[in-house]
Amino acid sequence: MERDASFVKVARADDLANGQSKIVFLGIKRLALFRIDDVFYCIQNNCPHAGGFLGNGTIDGCGVRCPRHDWWFDLKNGQCRTDPRYEVQTYVTRVEDGDVYIDTATSGGIV
Ligand code: FES
Repeated sequence: MERDASFVKVARADDLANGQSKIVFLGIKRLALFRIDDVFYCIQNNCPHAGGFLGNGTIDGCGVRCPRHDWWFDLKNGQCRTDPRYEVQTYVTRVEDGDVYIDTATSGGIV
């Protein structure tokens, strides 16, 4: 099957068990990857509040709590529930042959 050129492999699906997160790289950019109920979610890693690494945060429902000040971000749409003025970039994910890909077109390309 031919894959869209904008999809880039960032991890093996087996790298993450359900309920786990991991910091992955897209070029030099760090992203936060999550596996919840066998669905993968990817968001920017740096918290827009003060730069906490969301990939090291605590999964809470279908969101993540920032490890620095506990703000909660929705992994589906990037919205911050703690302060709705803030949001994080989300990335479309896809799993093929045990590899996790993200759509770089949703990020404006590899940086
Ligand atoms: S740095 Fe994330 S909530 Fe403050």
